[in-house]
Amino acid sequence: MTDDAVLEALQARCERSLAWHGRRNAADLLDSIDRASAVDRYGEGGVVAELESECAAVLGKPAALFFPSGTMAQQITLRVHADRRNNRAIVFHPACHLDRHEGGAYHRLQSLIGRPAGDQHRLLDLDDLRAVAEPIGALVLELPQRDIGGQQPDLPSLRAQVAWARDRGAAVHLDGARLWESAAGYGVPAAQVAALFDTVYVSFYKGLGALAGCCVAGDEQVIAELREWRQRMGGTVFALWPYAASALTALRERMPRMADYLRHARAIAAALKDAEGVVVVPDPPHTSMMHLLLRTTPEAFTAAARDSPSSRASGAGHGPAPPPIRPYNRWNSRSARRLAGSPPRRSATS
Ligand SMILES: Cc1ncc(COP(=O)(O)O)c(C=O)c1O
Repeated sequence: MTDDAVLEALQARCERSLAWHGRRNAADLLDSIDRASAVDRYGEGGVVAELESECAAVLGKPAALFFPSGTMAQQITLRVHADRRNNRAIVFHPACHLDRHEGGAYHRLQSLIGRPAGDQHRLLDLDDLRAVAEPIGALVLELPQRDIGGQQPDLPSLRAQVAWARDRGAAVHLDGARLWESAAGYGVPAAQVAALFDTVYVSFYKGLGALAGCCVAGDEQVIAELREWRQRMGGTVFALWPYAASALTALRERMPRMADYLRHARAIAAALKDAEGVVVVPDPPHTSMMHLLLRTTPEAFTAAARDSPSSRASGAGHGPAPPPIRPYNRWNSRSARRLAGSPPRRSATS
């Protein structure tokens, strides 16, 4: 068995999970779909329209459009901003999802030119942006910044970054895959964060735990242009309603729980902070997301997980295992390599 397979098998036996919403099967996910949902046709009408208007209202924007994936949604949104300003340069943090985990789609499909600003290991700041001399079409900010453990700037710094872009006539777009978590971290409603941006992308399947899919919210004209591009990109799947219905349930049920998730994450971080060989990043967590850097090697980690009381207890059928720490993720593996002095392996997944 490969190390990954061993760890996945161990994870499958865990009864509680600290990550996402735990392991769910098809029945759990189907339960998130209201059987009375009105169906759409190629993304028009039904529960898709209902979700779009509820999402626009929650974000305080005139309109919103549903997409099957954030990867599709954001590259199109940035293309629309670039086309309108006749400037294809987009500025982003070097560790942003758009640049790291989407196969270069913004460049290869939309002919946008990426301009990373700042250092990949820390948050972007105003000085990083001031170092950009060329005119730009858009600034993309990711809140929280996933690949550095969900850090986010304080609100005055965020406003200053947005003002920098606006002063230069650039659009400001929010990668708000985790805006729900971000807003809870700031202690303000999501609409207050969204108000800073021209366009806002939010995901329904991460912190909210729906099947898949996302919305982009913005003004009516931008959304009308996005609708055309969604069709060109093949995003008008004949039936989007299962995703939208699941998203609507998740939005209503889990968005109000974000402050609780944050409290829980901070309690977990506080409990772990003195554990030997564990570094919590950031400490305390800015949102209900954090990275745990483990001072070990992937091999030693797998061996320890194999030998842990929870794996022995569940394997031997001694009743419920003690609450497990999520045994493994790619970041931990990479970080472990970095801490152990070997070069980090780049993750192929997002
Ligand atoms: C910060 C961020 N932006 C964008 C995306 C892309 O979302 P999707 O998987 O819907 O394409 C992800 C997905 O993990 C993400 O974490």
